[in-house]
Amino acid sequence: MALVNQLQRFSRPILKIASNYSKYPSNTTLPFLQAARSTSTTKPLSEKEEVSITFVRANGERIKAKGKVGDTILDIVVNNEIDLDGYGACEGTLTCSTCHLIFPKEVYDALPDKPTDEELDMLDLAYELTDTSRLGCQIVMTKDLDGIEVRVPTTINDARA
Ligand code: FES
Repeated sequence: MALVNQLQRFSRPILKIASNYSKYPSNTTLPFLQAARSTSTTKPLSEKEEVSITFVRANGERIKAKGKVGDTILDIVVNNEIDLDGYGACEGTLTCSTCHLIFPKEVYDALPDKPTDEELDMLDLAYELTDTSRLGCQIVMTKDLDGIEVRVPTTINDARA
């Protein structure tokens, strides 16, 4: 029902403009674009739900950071300017393994996406690999992941070096 309402809300201004289209010069498209823009159903990025994540260094230091649903963990590290030495060197192109993180088993099992073959290949090059290791650039935050803690390995391996 909500979808039907949204479709009706979206189509109403367009139908109104279309019925008055003869008023506009033949090369005019602007009113259609304006109608489409004014009925956008996507939320602006700034309104996305906030999530938090805690990075736990090998020395026990805990770094809490905030991000948005849809951010990767790499996005959160970058956007919060978290000082994790060498983290995310390839900027999420799956060529470095510097974004290696270790998840608690229950969080690992609940992650929405399983690692791809490309991620597994890159994880094989990471130091301190565990059964619950993942690459932070491949983990997209969801509301269910709000509040998770992840362990940062002591050392990183930049597979490009
Ligand atoms: S940032 Fe390089 S593999 Fe994730």
